Amino acid sequence: MAEFSLPKNSKIKKDGKVHKAPGATKVKNFKVYRYDPDKGENPHYDTFEIDLDTCGPMVLDALIKMKSEQDSSLTFRRSCREGICGSCSMNMNGKNGLACTTAIEDLKGNVTITPLPHMEVIKDLVPDFTHFYAQYSSIKPWLQTVTPNPGKERLQSPEDREKLDGLYECILCACCSTSCPSYWWNSDKFLGPAILLQAYRWLADSRDEMTGERLDELEDPFRLYRCHTIMNCANACPKGLNPAKAIAEIKKMEAERIV
Ligand code: SF4
Ligand code: SF4
Ligand code: FES
Repeated sequence: MAEFSLPKNSKIKKDGKVHKAPGATKVKNFKVYRYDPDKGENPHYDTFEIDLDTCGPMVLDALIKMKSEQDSSLTFRRSCREGICGSCSMNMNGKNGLACTTAIEDLKGNVTITPLPHMEVIKDLVPDFTHFYAQYSSIKPWLQTVTPNPGKERLQSPEDREKLDGLYECILCACCSTSCPSYWWNSDKFLGPAILLQAYRWLADSRDEMTGERLDELEDPFRLYRCHTIMNCANACPKGLNPAKAIAEIKKMEAERIV
């Protein structure tokens, strides 16, 4: 059930600490969301002054510099620093994206960094993905077959393999789902753009033999049909994918099997 106002303990306190950069020659301010469940306090913003002359070019470089030089308790996820693992997704100046592929110079003025919107926060910039992964698991994201094991690879023509382009590249960063208003209000039941794109990845796979069962599972007023084609998802995807198109393809498959 959607809540339309923040619970009291989620409201952001205005003042936080200012972490100075003594001797800096080219300063940019980063306002970073801070929340520590162990302190029993509301979230707040801290300001970090970053010397761009001694910082790498990406937002992730700035975060690593903050953590190494100014406040080691700053918490965020990162791994590959190449836009491959999906772990550094966050909101920067109001737009979801990957910190490791977002250039600081592309963000005008002071930079405000918050966790992905509308997710529970574990600490600072780390959202809780438990529900998101449970939804991913619910679509059975693996090849399902009923015919006897051929004893070698299940082959696919180059044309059929091409149908997976624009789908297999998804890194499950959740930038799309957490920018989707329908997912904000109904994430308990609506699967959201990321998981539906993944669901279509298996529907589009010529080797999968559970298409009917997969469509049965998705045919639900909430799981699939809460998408109202608002298109925020395609605008938010840092990999240039189009979850709205994948959702439209699922709806088409559902409609075609009724006819
Ligand atoms: S197109 Fe659908 S899934 Fe994408 S943002 Fe809009 S409602 Fe959400
Ligand atoms: S579709 Fe794009 S934004 Fe959504 S989870 Fe996959 S990579 Fe991230
Ligand atoms: S660190 Fe892996 S996507 Fe950013």
